[in-house]
Amino acid sequence: MDKATLVKMALKAREYSYSPYSNFCVGAALLTKSGKVYSGCNIENAAHTPSNCAERTAFFKAVSEGETEFEAIAIVGGPSAGIVDFCAPCGVCRQVMMEFCDYESFEIILGKSEAEYKSFQLKELLPLGFGPNNLSAR
Ligand code: THU
Repeated sequence: MDKATLVKMALKAREYSYSPYSNFCVGAALLTKSGKVYSGCNIENAAHTPSNCAERTAFFKAVSEGETEFEAIAIVGGPSAGIVDFCAPCGVCRQVMMEFCDYESFEIILGKSEAEYKSFQLKELLPLGFGPNNLSAR
């Protein structure tokens, strides 16, 4: 699947963002190694703490359906009125990526539109990350 298509799917997921408190709408599309795509949006809550980012919504949907191997994620976000900038994943979402994704090859695609996006490796966005390998290394 090409990057533009994954960004397009993230833009569609963004339409379902439930963000009445921040009015900042985020969408994500997570591509598994088997070629499936799990989408996610941010889901806020009146009590704030239970809110969930779009990226983690996508990861948790996928993992809860048995998928644990991932290729790439496209992320788009911005004020409800429209996307004005790239939306980078928060630290908590980067840590969730660290749990399931290859440090060198997992691609994080930040999109503004289907035509404008840039991609990063997980190791670029989470240098010196702590993950499952750190627990097993002796
Ligand atoms: N948010 C995401 O869903 N993903 C990101 O990458 C950054 C922030 C959400 C959390 C909250 O609902 C809103 O955007 C404002 O922070």
